[in-house]
Amino acid sequence: MRLLPEPSAQSLRLLFLFLFVMGVTPSPALTAGCPDRCVCDDQLVVQCAGQELTAFPNDLPLATRQLIISNNRIGDLPALQLNYLSDLVYLDCSNNSLTEISESTFGNLRKLAYLDLSFNTLLQVEDRTFGPLASLVMLRLTDNPSLGEVHPDAFAENMALQVLDVSRNNLTALNISSLIALPALRSLGLSGNPWSCDCDTEDLCLWVQIEGFKFQALKSSETERLHTVEHSAAREPNTSS
Ligand SMILES: *[C@@H]1O[C@H](CO)[C@@H](O)[C@H](O)[C@H]1NC(C)=O
Ligand SMILES: *[C@@H]1O[C@H](CO)[C@@H](O)[C@H](O)[C@H]1NC(C)=O
Ligand SMILES: *[C@@H]1O[C@H](CO)[C@@H](O)[C@H](O)[C@H]1NC(C)=O
Repeated sequence: MRLLPEPSAQSLRLLFLFLFVMGVTPSPALTAGCPDRCVCDDQLVVQCAGQELTAFPNDLPLATRQLIISNNRIGDLPALQLNYLSDLVYLDCSNNSLTEISESTFGNLRKLAYLDLSFNTLLQVEDRTFGPLASLVMLRLTDNPSLGEVHPDAFAENMALQVLDVSRNNLTALNISSLIALPALRSLGLSGNPWSCDCDTEDLCLWVQIEGFKFQALKSSETERLHTVEHSAAREPNTSS
């Protein structure tokens, strides 16, 4: 039996050159590459919208600042992988198949300013889910047709929150006192929910019915820039159930 030909000196040199280059590449963010079916740019934006993904993308650059995974069929946000992205500022998960988010899901995302969870299949929001999001300015949580329960203190720690939209869910109640207490809140979307109005939820029903309830104390110049409370639910408040 004959020996195979020895690898040429040329190919060995190429191999060593290759290993050397891999070995000295400086930052883990650069070696992490870009997930399959996503586009990554040098502004640290990772765009994976509409790729029929069924799972959260692997191998995200650790320095990612904007992640767009909308219009897929992702059923789960894995806390471990997500929380490696501690520089994340913008996260769009809209139009997926998320059924659950928990206390640990967003545990380390202290810079996150924009979060979109609209058009999913969430069932409930628990107490501490958004608690760690100290920089959260805008939360879109609309069009989750089975979302029937939001914990009374769900947003109590989101001191930076300016815009909250919970329109078109299946909510019958929401703790309006904890929302009024949020110092930065200037827009609240409530329409398209089967709100139940009774003595216990008087405040909520005022919000649903009186546009601008929260904003009377503001200067008019400021008021002009403000979004208005969505109140179309007031047309047909569900007073019975
Ligand atoms: C959700 O994503 C699917 C697949 O990309 C798309 O066909 C559909 O129009 C999207 N729906 C919304 C409400 O954006
Ligand atoms: C909305 O909530 C009611 C109970 O409050 C429930 O009977 C109904 O099935 C829910 N709708 C959806 C789409 O989950
Ligand atoms: C609503 O929130 C306020 C202020 O955070 C709290 O004192 C109150 O107990 C809450 N109500 C309910 C029903 O949990």
